[in-house]
Amino acid sequence: MTENNTPVNDTSPMETEGLLRGRFAEATDQFVERFTASVDFDRRLFREDIAGSIAHATMLKKIGVLSPEECDIIVGGLADILVEITSNKFIWRVELEDVHMNIEHRLIELVGATGKKLHTGRSRNDQVATDIRLHLRNCIDTISEEGVRLLSGLAILALDHSDTLMPGFTHLQAAQPITFGHHLMAWFAMLERDLDRLQDCRRRTNQLPLGAAALAGTPYCPDRTYLAELLGFDGVCANSLDAVSDRDFAIEFCAVAALTLTHLSRWCEELVLWSSQQFSFVTMPDRFCTGSSIMPQKKNPDVPELIRGKTGRTNGNLLSLLTLMKSQPLAYNKDNQEDKEPLFDSIDTLRDCLIALNGLIPNLIANKEQMREAALAGYTTATDLADYLVRKQVPFRDAHELVGGAVQRAVELNQPLEALSLEQLNGAIDGPIEADVYDVLSLDGSIAARDHFGGTAPTQVRAQAQAALSRLKTRDDPR
Ligand code: ARG
Repeated sequence: MTENNTPVNDTSPMETEGLLRGRFAEATDQFVERFTASVDFDRRLFREDIAGSIAHATMLKKIGVLSPEECDIIVGGLADILVEITSNKFIWRVELEDVHMNIEHRLIELVGATGKKLHTGRSRNDQVATDIRLHLRNCIDTISEEGVRLLSGLAILALDHSDTLMPGFTHLQAAQPITFGHHLMAWFAMLERDLDRLQDCRRRTNQLPLGAAALAGTPYCPDRTYLAELLGFDGVCANSLDAVSDRDFAIEFCAVAALTLTHLSRWCEELVLWSSQQFSFVTMPDRFCTGSSIMPQKKNPDVPELIRGKTGRTNGNLLSLLTLMKSQPLAYNKDNQEDKEPLFDSIDTLRDCLIALNGLIPNLIANKEQMREAALAGYTTATDLADYLVRKQVPFRDAHELVGGAVQRAVELNQPLEALSLEQLNGAIDGPIEADVYDVLSLDGSIAARDHFGGTAPTQVRAQAQAALSRLKTRDDPR
């Protein structure tokens, strides 16, 4: 059993009555108790909840609301609870509704009356907002590390394949020759932007809500700057109503996750195609593939297929949170309890997909021969022939038309363009073609010619991959 995984106890012991129900004449309906509880999923926030409570108690001591002894008792009790949870000794109770009440209740059980002072000047509204922001910030940091690993794996592979030829596609039809390294660096560019977006989201996530209390602030005048320092927040939320109620940072994260998964899904679609027998451009390590229960010959690309499929989750989670937020009047509403499952799911999905690709990408084997043959078979240097004619003063539109004739001839002869003789070429085109045409008609000539910033020439790909690797070295570590 993993930590924090003890079953939730859903019997309703009398001792738990009374923590929130002073003004009620009857106990909570058992179904309502279960329906409104979030402990099943928000217990995941236990570390942040305890860290937030320790910071809150320490701040209350600083402003003179708790004595140093009271603060020590509370902090000691919270530390014991952390041990109980991580060693699976903690009993989670559904009747205590959520992670916050479970921990506070246990604190009172452990340390007695002093524990009842912890919630002074605080509400679960600013408490939960603080917990989620802390949790998301920490998860963003783990995800960023995986992302940077993947980026460097891509750049290293691109360097290895800066002159490996393959067909580039438009409409999934062979279009022009490119290098495999160039293709990989296109993936790199997508993911690098995703990670920039993630860091941007981190800045807005890492703001402290605590001190906003239920919605209006608190008469204890908390030292919020001190709280922010203790918890590693970059700043303090400036409006108490906004602090407890908005979840735009979570929506933003889900948007980043959806977009990143959308990108990863595109790569995975290509990996699925490329590893098929029909393409055979790449071979995936056996340990990343699975067999079929009926067809013994099958080697299925389950990992990229699953990543492609998981995009449905991240895109759905984004829509869930947008919809959750859209009609909420200020300030906190219970609706917000529903923010956690989609957010946690997007966090886990994004992290796991990056981990999976970190295993896969550096171990991808490029089948250079098949890639090259596919580029040759696709008449991918036809544009180069048109460009050659342009240099011989033929207007591009005419050149385009003429080259169509040459391709037709090559199709009839079942040969790649560069295998046609000068007579065959001039016969098809009736043009000023000389022996130097073969420099541009070859795959290598074609890619070498695109030697400009952003082009596919091997020198450019190497420069891009090297620049990318040095960017990764200097990438800001937010912590
Ligand atoms: N479990 C609640 C949530 O996730 C905590 C805040 C509850 N606040 C309240 N006033 N009912 O949002």
